[in-house]
Amino acid sequence: MTTLFLTIFTIFPTLILHLASANGHVNPCRSYCGNISIDYPFSLRYGCGHPGFRDLLFCINDVLMFHISSGSYRVLEIDYAYQSLTLHEPHLSTCDTIVLGGKGNGFSVEPWQSPYFNPTADNVFMLIGCSAQSPLFQGFPEKHLPCRNVSGMGCEEYYGCPAWSLVGHRQVGSKFGSGPPECCAVAFEAIKAINLSKLECEGYSSAYSLAPLRVDGPSGWSYGIRVRYSVQGNEEFCRACGATGGTCGYGTDGVRQMCMCGNFNSTSNCDSVSSATSSRTWSRVSTLAGCLMGILGWIAANPKP
Ligand SMILES: *[C@@H]1O[C@H](CO)[C@@H](O)[C@H](O)[C@H]1NC(C)=O
Ligand SMILES: *[C@@H]1O[C@H](CO)[C@@H](O)[C@H](O)[C@H]1NC(C)=O
Ligand SMILES: *[C@@H]1O[C@H](CO)[C@@H](O)[C@H](O)[C@H]1NC(C)=O
Ligand SMILES: *[C@@H]1O[C@H](CO)[C@@H](O)[C@H](O)[C@H]1NC(C)=O
Repeated sequence: MTTLFLTIFTIFPTLILHLASANGHVNPCRSYCGNISIDYPFSLRYGCGHPGFRDLLFCINDVLMFHISSGSYRVLEIDYAYQSLTLHEPHLSTCDTIVLGGKGNGFSVEPWQSPYFNPTADNVFMLIGCSAQSPLFQGFPEKHLPCRNVSGMGCEEYYGCPAWSLVGHRQVGSKFGSGPPECCAVAFEAIKAINLSKLECEGYSSAYSLAPLRVDGPSGWSYGIRVRYSVQGNEEFCRACGATGGTCGYGTDGVRQMCMCGNFNSTSNCDSVSSATSSRTWSRVSTLAGCLMGILGWIAANPKP
């Protein structure tokens, strides 16, 4: 008798929890691409994640691609703890190769996307072979250059890379009279868009440092574009949705956030019962609870000899 009670009392809450979770906690938005997990605010499905990140990631043959107006990039990593992504593309110059011909993507996004993601402040863009007429060199009094070291990384050190021994470069000072420098390092914030054709540059490199800064020079830098993302203080909606067992998404307008609660969608969270389907779910759970209570009562009232 005691064991029967124990069994029922252990199974019963588990069963209820299981039923409730089957209707609320299954996340239809979480997925994988290769070995990269895709989670909020990102998604591979339209309607999942945050609307600021819609139509951004695509999984092609287990390769995660990040698509913006300046082009497509391979995603090497998504760091959810530091809210950043690492991107790479074949036309991005590194310490081993310099790619000229103006084919590089650079980095620029649609105005509506810029509040949501931008290259990090410690990511350096090194623009290579820009013309003297480049907008990069205009508007600086006495021909001072806008070129800077960013997070301890800049062209002076980059020139030390093996790739430069093949290309060769002229030494120039902090002003240009004889011609523009072969390479000019800038932070994204300084120019807001890395567009090689607009800046009249032949190529570019991008590197970032992962703190603490490694001291082994340009061959030790990480080449790629480090992008920081943010959902713009709009986390409250998603937190409330998740806390009530829902999954964050957005409506077909691609703007309005929505909470997916299994068999209904809510404009707030899953506790705001606004749908017939949800009350049916809960009544099913309570009917079952009632049945089991009845059985328990019957067992208690009819002890076996
Ligand atoms: C994913 O796989 C690649 C190689 O296929 C590896 O370099 C990388 O470290 C892996 N990333 C994670 C997060 O496991
Ligand atoms: C880059 O600049 C060129 C020339 O100004 C322009 O036609 C092109 O649309 C720009 N590309 C992006 C992605 O903004
Ligand atoms: C960048 O740092 C290097 C090495 O520390 C230094 O030689 C160079 O003058 C700096 N460049 C600029 C533009 O500040
Ligand atoms: C809820 O919204 C998602 C995403 O827009 C959609 O795929 C799903 O069909 C909707 N579910 C219901 C029950 O309307």
